[in-house]
Amino acid sequence: MKIIMLGAPGAGKGTQAKMIAEQYAIPHISTGDIFRANIKNGTDLGMEAKKYMDQGLLVPDELTVRILLDRVAKDDCRDGYVLDGFPRTIPQAQVLDKALEEIEDKIDFAIDVDVPDENIIKRMGGRRSCSKCGAIYHLEYIPPETEGICDGCQGELVLRDDDKPETVKNRLDVYHKQTQPLIDFYEKKGILKTVDGTQNMKDVFAAIVAILG
Ligand code: AP5
Ligand code: MG
Repeated sequence: MKIIMLGAPGAGKGTQAKMIAEQYAIPHISTGDIFRANIKNGTDLGMEAKKYMDQGLLVPDELTVRILLDRVAKDDCRDGYVLDGFPRTIPQAQVLDKALEEIEDKIDFAIDVDVPDENIIKRMGGRRSCSKCGAIYHLEYIPPETEGICDGCQGELVLRDDDKPETVKNRLDVYHKQTQPLIDFYEKKGILKTVDGTQNMKDVFAAIVAILG
């Protein structure tokens, strides 16, 4: 099963994609996580991506598409995957479609996690991510058992660099201009499914499982 997660920054794509990946035993592929891992390791790709991410802008399509196509060509993707944060522009979606057509394949579902901008701002300020395993928490909604420490791996919980309020605002603007048109794009293909992302994370997940079967 090949799934795309759509939704604004902070809508809960990463939170849900992780649960989908576990339930359906498919890899969770987040272009944002790939970029952040490269930044942490100080690679050339990381340095290039950071220039854009710190401003809340999209990393150029050319670079992003190359990384994503390399990743989905790996063996563990043969039975499917859940893409989180890709595609984010119409050209990215077209390149993915073309690459899949070449191997007589296609995306099965594009799931839009729908959350209004007002809720997003509140979610971002409270998000904490594990610096070791990437698990996602929220100070108010999904708190860890011990403040500042990951429940799973005991890693340190940190605020993401791009979660500062002014950068969040830019990311939302970029989302509305460049990414939201993908909702129409997948609607026209007949594979768009919308879930109400303002519910608690278990109810959002139940709605997604009802769609995926
Ligand atoms: P990326 O890492 O993809 O960030 P994003 O799209 O801005 O989304 P987020 O990860 O911020 O939010 P999310 O939807 O995953 O929400 P989460 O589950 O964490 O991209 C970062 C940057 O990388 C981009 O700005 C761009 O520069 C670059 N980039 C990445 N991909 C690219 C691409 N394809 N092309 C070009 N550039 C690209 O949840 C948010 C918070 O809410 C958490 O605290 C969570 O605990 C909480 N929460 C989740 N669900 C619920 C719920 N139901 N109720 C209450 N709280 C909840
Ligand atoms: Mg995410």
